[in-house]
Amino acid sequence: MDLRFLKRFTDGIIPPVCPEILEVDPLLTNISWLPLHIPKIEPDNWDLFWELWNREKSPMGKEDNPYIIWDTVGIWSSPDTGNSAVHEDFPYKMEDWSSYFPIMFERIRTAMPFLRINNIRISSNIKRVNPHLDPTPTMYPWPNSLRVMLWDSNPSPTFYMLPWPESSFLQNPIPKIDVIPNQTYILGDIPQQEKIYVDLPADTNTFIFSNGEFLHGADLAYPKIILIVHGVPDVEKWKSKLYGMVNIK
Ligand SMILES: [Fe+2]
Repeated sequence: MDLRFLKRFTDGIIPPVCPEILEVDPLLTNISWLPLHIPKIEPDNWDLFWELWNREKSPMGKEDNPYIIWDTVGIWSSPDTGNSAVHEDFPYKMEDWSSYFPIMFERIRTAMPFLRINNIRISSNIKRVNPHLDPTPTMYPWPNSLRVMLWDSNPSPTFYMLPWPESSFLQNPIPKIDVIPNQTYILGDIPQQEKIYVDLPADTNTFIFSNGEFLHGADLAYPKIILIVHGVPDVEKWKSKLYGMVNIK
C-alpha cells in the first residue's frame, strides 16, 4: 500500500498534529462524505434558537487574530472535557442549550455511534473557509466527522470536500500550504471542478465527512449555520454502519 500520504500529517505542520493514522481501509478511504438518512436535526423551537443565536454568537478568535472566519457559540460540552477543545487563539463562548432543545440533542447523540461526544458548537462563516483539516488526536481515513447544515439560505451547496493535492505531500518545501495555529489551509482559489460539494438530499440535513483523507472548506455566499460535533467514534460500530451505507449505495 502506498503510504506516502502519511507525510501530509507531519510535513509542514508544526507541531505535527497527527502522528498516526488508524484503520486504513481501501473500501472506505475514497469516500469523502455521506448523507445520514435520519430525521432532520433542527432546533425544537426556531424562535428561541434565533433569540439565543443572536444574543450569544461572537467572532471565534481574539480581536487581533487575522484568521477569524466564524461567528460561533458552543452549545454543549462534556463535563469530562469542559472547554479543553477551545483553542486559546480561537476562544468562543461555551453555553449549554441541551435543556432548550431536547429533541435536537437526542438526535445528535444517536445520529452515529459515538463512544463519547466532547463538544458541540454552531458556526456561521463570515469569510471564505479555505480547505483545511480539523486536527484531532486521531485521524480516521473514513467519514468520521459529523455535521448538520442547521440553516442555509444558499440556493446551492457551499460546503465542499477536496482531495489532498499531490503536491502538498510529495514535495518539499510544501507549496500552497500556510500554517496557522492548529489548522492547515491551502490558500488560493480552488478550481470549481476539484470541489466535491456536500449536496444533501432533501430528506436530511446531516452528514459525515472524512477528515483523515480529504480537506474540507466552504465558499462564502449567503449566510448559513452549521452544527459541528466533536467526539470519539465507537470504531467498530461506526465502521459497520459505514459498510451498511456503502453497500446500499
Ligand atoms: Fe473544519
